[in-house]
Amino acid sequence: MFNLRYFFAEIRDQIFFDSFNNTLSRTGKIYPPYYVLWDCTRKCNLHCAHCGATKEKYSEELTEPQIKKIIDELAELRVGFFAVTGGEPLLRTDLLSILSYAKTKGIDTGIATNGFFIDAAMASKIKEAGVSSVQISLDGPEETHNKIRGNSQSYQKAINAIKLLKERNVPIVSVATTVTPGNINELEKLLKILLELNVRLWRITVVMPIGRAQTKKLLLAPAELKKLFEFVKSSNKGKLIIKIGENLPFLAEYETRIRSEPLVCTIGFTACCIGVDGNVRGCPEQPDIPKYREGSAIEKPFLEIWKNGFRRYRSRSIIEADPKCAACKSKYSCFGGCWVMREGNMHCIYELLK
Ligand SMILES: C[S@@+](CC[C@H](N)C(=O)[O-])C[C@H]1O[C@@H](n2cnc3c(N)ncnc32)[C@H](O)[C@@H]1O
Repeated sequence: MFNLRYFFAEIRDQIFFDSFNNTLSRTGKIYPPYYVLWDCTRKCNLHCAHCGATKEKYSEELTEPQIKKIIDELAELRVGFFAVTGGEPLLRTDLLSILSYAKTKGIDTGIATNGFFIDAAMASKIKEAGVSSVQISLDGPEETHNKIRGNSQSYQKAINAIKLLKERNVPIVSVATTVTPGNINELEKLLKILLELNVRLWRITVVMPIGRAQTKKLLLAPAELKKLFEFVKSSNKGKLIIKIGENLPFLAEYETRIRSEPLVCTIGFTACCIGVDGNVRGCPEQPDIPKYREGSAIEKPFLEIWKNGFRRYRSRSIIEADPKCAACKSKYSCFGGCWVMREGNMHCIYELLK
């Protein structure tokens, strides 16, 4: 289906990503990242059936002075957004001090959380720290969410957190849902709940083959994936915007029917992730292993890592290196798909839908 807005956005992206590479190779200059995500802890209070973050263990976490020093470097580079994920970020007692610090340095901040620890006092502290965006995970209606998260209070706590943050006018309060065969049939019910809560942004991500989700039992069958796309297509109207996560950067025949703009994986172009102990990689879902590490931000200046690393993403060489991608008609739309999905050989949308 032809979509004019999509068409112009595609041209804009081509110009940006091409000029990124050209500027790099010709002048040695570099665009700074806009979005830096910090994987701030592996501690968690819940036990999600699909948790990908269990894929690595760390003996040490970055300390408050260490991450503040990195934030100083990010501020110098004029990074626009610094967000935290985990584990459960709010288990770090220094979290709001760190996010306030980033804010005073001119960087907007965000938190991805299960919402469990956000009571009235914490919601006020988050607002006072100037946090721009809080994403609360909600994987279904009460029974389903509690079952997936392994805690009988987790749903009520998450709902309460959404209400409290909205009452305090935190600028963006969004919801994230990870879709598995265990909750795909509950999306309609969840939609009703989010509309009642007046949530404006719903990020839906298909489960990725990492951590506890490496077992195929949690991955979606083709019919379920199509069902999800049909659901998003028919529900994405009105005030609630529904976005399908970055791990599906191209949706084949559903692409322009669901998205009004292309979704490009921005790793190495405008985004990257700082790992729990300071190693920089593309995104938090990528395993924190030497293969994906670009350098340690406590051993080297962040700028040096950003400038000299991330070559494989910027060259987009994967689409020629993978024979299947090289021969594919959509290679310039999906650019080889998501690197994390590739870990489980789930990166090709045509294969997933077959
Ligand atoms: C890793 S959690 C960390 C932040 C926080 N503890 C939370 O629950 O939101 C961030 C998000 O990643 C999602 N997630 C975890 N494992 C995943 C997987 N294997 N595939 C896709 N998303 C996953 C979670 O459901 C959650 O929405």
